[in-house]
Amino acid sequence: MTRKRVTVAFLREKEELAQMTEDVRAGLLGKPKDLSPWPKYLYDEKGSELFEEITALPEYYQTRTELLILEEKAPEIVARTHCRELVELGSGSASKTRTLLDAMIANRESSVPGDGQVRYVPLDVSESALRSSARRLLEEYSSSLEISGFVGDFDLSLESLLARSRGAEKPGRLIIFLGGTIGNFKPERRQKFLQRLRGGLGERDYLLIGVDLVKDARILEAAYDDKTGITARFNKNLLNVLNRELGGEFDPDLFAHQAHYDAGAARIEMWLDSKVRQKVAVAALGLEVSFEAGEGMRTEISYKFTLESVADAFEKAGLRLLELYTDEENLFGLALGTTR
Ligand code: AVJ
Repeated sequence: MTRKRVTVAFLREKEELAQMTEDVRAGLLGKPKDLSPWPKYLYDEKGSELFEEITALPEYYQTRTELLILEEKAPEIVARTHCRELVELGSGSASKTRTLLDAMIANRESSVPGDGQVRYVPLDVSESALRSSARRLLEEYSSSLEISGFVGDFDLSLESLLARSRGAEKPGRLIIFLGGTIGNFKPERRQKFLQRLRGGLGERDYLLIGVDLVKDARILEAAYDDKTGITARFNKNLLNVLNRELGGEFDPDLFAHQAHYDAGAARIEMWLDSKVRQKVAVAALGLEVSFEAGEGMRTEISYKFTLESVADAFEKAGLRLLELYTDEENLFGLALGTTR
């Protein structure tokens, strides 16, 4: 008997287009215009491609630093948590996942010889990203890995994912949320999200969350406004998404990319500023959206953390911060937490 080692299932909550219409309407009617509560709309195919380019920019230290920390600390994290199931929220290309899978496989072989496989449970909105990364991982790991992937939105599908991924109770799960994506949530939403995660954790489960750290504003602003203009293109691509999905008539050339760090709120804000006074029709909304010359629309927020603010966020959600793993320059952190 051959056992199927990759399965893919769909977790879908509401009609996606209906949801997008509702979200964008609320965002464009807001004062200021604000699409930052829905960062996922930045990541269509083109947006995901541009984001991949961002992760390789010299100014964007986050991705390579997180990988560096994982390469160094994955064995320790796995030894400490004894996990043999890796659940990844927003797995994307799963480029950093190998560090943890390697450590889990090594740990399994040293502790309980021959006992069971390591399970990887990726969740991503992109079915194609999910399938291709799963295929690559399986080729690499052959018999030591079992993959059970889910297509869905990590926010909408969190509970169903956590309920469905639970494998054998014994060696717990390590639930990872990498890249600093949690920084896209405002504090209130972040706390709700952490609480929901907390609610889905079993006694032996652990959380590992990537967070960008507070630092000099110039370094942060450069990371979101690179010299080559990739981030500007990433930001403006949101207008192409609105044009395509909702029949918008935005001209990306009539908007300017802007990013600034608000030290008081400890967050980067990305904006698109209208260069001229203009009206833009959005057919699916039955709206003509007016912009003053210089009027901005917020498109993304990205919070930055300290050891104290991470510990505080965890504690308020009923989680205990076991450790904040960082790099030598304290650029980025990986927060390990449990329910106990
Ligand atoms: C993927 C949300 C972590 O906030 O740094 C990168 C997205 N936006 N450059 C971030 C992003 C502009 C990124 N996250």
